[in-house]
Amino acid sequence: MQNIKQYVEQNKQRLLDELFELLRFPSVSADPKYKPDVLKAAAYVAGKLIDAGADKVEVCETAGNPIVYGEKIVDTSKPTVLVYGHYDVQPADPLELWKTPPFEPTIRDGKIYARGACDDKGQVYMHVKAFELMMQTDGLPCNIKFMIEGEEEVGSSNLGIFVKANKERLKADVVLISDTSMISMENPSLETGLRGLSYLEVEVTGPNRDLHSGVYGGAVANPATILAKMIASLHDENNHITIPGFYNDVIDLTASERKALNDAPYDEAAYKKDLGVGELWGEKGYTTFERTGTRPTLEVNGIWGGYIGEGAKTVLPSKASAKISMRLVPNQSSDKITQLFSDHFKKIAPASVKVTVTPHHGGEPVVTPTDSIAYRAAQKAIAESFGKEPIPTRGGGSIPIVALFEAELGLKTVLMGFGLDSDALHSPNEKYDIFNYYKGIETIPLFHKYFAELSGK
Ligand code: BES
Ligand code: MN
Ligand code: MN
Repeated sequence: MQNIKQYVEQNKQRLLDELFELLRFPSVSADPKYKPDVLKAAAYVAGKLIDAGADKVEVCETAGNPIVYGEKIVDTSKPTVLVYGHYDVQPADPLELWKTPPFEPTIRDGKIYARGACDDKGQVYMHVKAFELMMQTDGLPCNIKFMIEGEEEVGSSNLGIFVKANKERLKADVVLISDTSMISMENPSLETGLRGLSYLEVEVTGPNRDLHSGVYGGAVANPATILAKMIASLHDENNHITIPGFYNDVIDLTASERKALNDAPYDEAAYKKDLGVGELWGEKGYTTFERTGTRPTLEVNGIWGGYIGEGAKTVLPSKASAKISMRLVPNQSSDKITQLFSDHFKKIAPASVKVTVTPHHGGEPVVTPTDSIAYRAAQKAIAESFGKEPIPTRGGGSIPIVALFEAELGLKTVLMGFGLDSDALHSPNEKYDIFNYYKGIETIPLFHKYFAELSGK
């Protein structure tokens, strides 16, 4: 631990400068116009892996954005850790809400403000630097393989193909990911599950053209009104989802599991204040932790139709649309839920409109074991570097590829994230605390150390 702290202390500025360089590439995977920057970010990560001492570093082409691979095999009798992360980021829009430009990282109040600062460049880069640190100090206690992709934020479809085609190369004992959150730095935690996802787009079409709202309004159903009503009907008065069969496969937590989850510290007043809301909302009978971690949900991600330009235009739109996603919990299946939604949504449409439902990406939920050697190694690492045992929590977000690691590679995952939910992931002014960044770099080598030790190798 002394060596680790010393190394971070002596290299403080450089560790930050290098991350800043990575953050300056607008590697937005959702928008093809950023492809050159995506490629630069991939090349940068690959270069830094080489500099740190990784072998077989390769920027692997895919049908989409490349995957950066690198490895260091020190001793084949030692366990192997497969580190996964992503160098792509979400779009930075709406740009006008950023206090400083999203791709010009800026420090304010000890925090790095930039798109990707936390999700996931800041967190993935901790692993690259922890690797460098181990190489420069006590050596690697485990073999290590890196797989850093560029399409996590758009569904990882090419990574799925890569994993299936590279099973031998990706052989490992565990997957280690830092792309999730902790409760707080004072209350370190480890996420033990991720929700799945069904994402789709709906379009409601009424008349065959936009109409004068005075001439036809009142006589013809307005698709925007119909869509709003249909969407509103998807939750009942207790905020349960009304799609028939939606909850059929959900496994209820036991009373003791619920208790353990709700024992974690939670300050509702601070939670509301951070978000600027007067009251919380959610499924009746469940706490905030349960609503965001262990219960399935349905959200409208975007809704549009009709005139949204300057001033007023009196129009009865021909069409209205929405993007809708559902977060899924263990035992629910993404394809099944997509089908249930689609059938239901078409069924509730009145004869005055036509409805189309187009599925986007999906992903399966996962729970990670809490009795494995790797989980214990993560617990010990965090306890040592934070001076406090981590609390197990369930994360609300999704990393769809994690279920595939298990299905295709037979590997379990440890979610050792160092972000905070309040780091504004996907929002304007995303941030990552410099403290968390250094803390991550210090904790990761301890994971490798304890994973090797506890594996008895
Ligand atoms: N890192 C997040 C997922 C996350 C965030 C998990 C916080 C737990 C806590 C990841 O980059 C992400 O945003 N995933 C997407 C899914 C993807 C298919 C677009 C998500 O959760 O919306
Ligand atoms: Mn992420
Ligand atoms: Mn994300």
